[in-house]
Amino acid sequence: KKIKVFAPATIANVGPGYDILGLALEGVGEHLEIELLDSNDIIIHPIPGYPDLPLGPDENIAGIVANAMLNQLGRKQGLSIKIQKAVKPGSGLGSSGCTAAATAFALNELLDSVFTPLELVEFAMLGEKATSGKAHADNVAASLMGGFCIIKSYHPLEILSIPFPKDLRIVVAHPQIEVKTADSKKILKKEMAISDVITQMGNIAALISGLTTSNLEWIKSGMNDLIAEPIRSYLIPGFGQAKTLALENGALGCSISGSGPSIFAFCENENQAQVVGDKWKQFYADLEIDSKIYLSKI
Ligand code: HSE
Repeated sequence: KKIKVFAPATIANVGPGYDILGLALEGVGEHLEIELLDSNDIIIHPIPGYPDLPLGPDENIAGIVANAMLNQLGRKQGLSIKIQKAVKPGSGLGSSGCTAAATAFALNELLDSVFTPLELVEFAMLGEKATSGKAHADNVAASLMGGFCIIKSYHPLEILSIPFPKDLRIVVAHPQIEVKTADSKKILKKEMAISDVITQMGNIAALISGLTTSNLEWIKSGMNDLIAEPIRSYLIPGFGQAKTLALENGALGCSISGSGPSIFAFCENENQAQVVGDKWKQFYADLEIDSKIYLSKI
């Protein structure tokens, strides 16, 4: 029995929603194939283009997630896992989350859907914990559930899927440098002044209200972050200028994707996204920073 699945890449945090907001990028992501074997071994095949990623079942994210699912069932089951990555690890686009989400979903299908969608998110979070030291759910929830997700609570895990304007488009710039989530989590402050918390809550409230009612002005006014962006932006070459350029060219907002170095802009439609994408292409070329630009639906 075998299955092949696609898991979308994701943008976590989405401005002010550190660890609680995530969205799935349509068409950008990872393909993964799992086959049940007669033996008890979990075999992870070499990953095309990524010779340095570990393949041992206790180190590879797919192996970690699959083992946890099988252990929970008290079941020994050999697996052959083939991973095809489209997004580099350390990109800020939920590359490890894609592998975790794809494994949880695919294996559950082969196990006759014994686990609920929420349980799959919890298994996929184990992959995030192994990679970054923290079991954040914003990437894996969006990759598994699609669309736009809110992690309403971690204990117990509660996830909300929210509506968003159907024409909304995302432009992503992925400068080809690596930022490890584990490192960019450590540099964040552990505490925040209550006055900043109030500002941040106002921003999140405006952003979510704007998304669910298609009020573009509210989306725009809510896209400010006081937790991650002010600190992590130092790790991202050209971030300040790229953000200004996006906003000057009609973007509704711009921030860091996950823990970076990718950045993203919200645009009200395809044409606007094209304009921002073209400006960013030119901008990174002028700076001689090798960067991939994606335009995507949610
Ligand atoms: N919410 C996580 C973080 C996402 O910002 O650290 C990592 O991709």
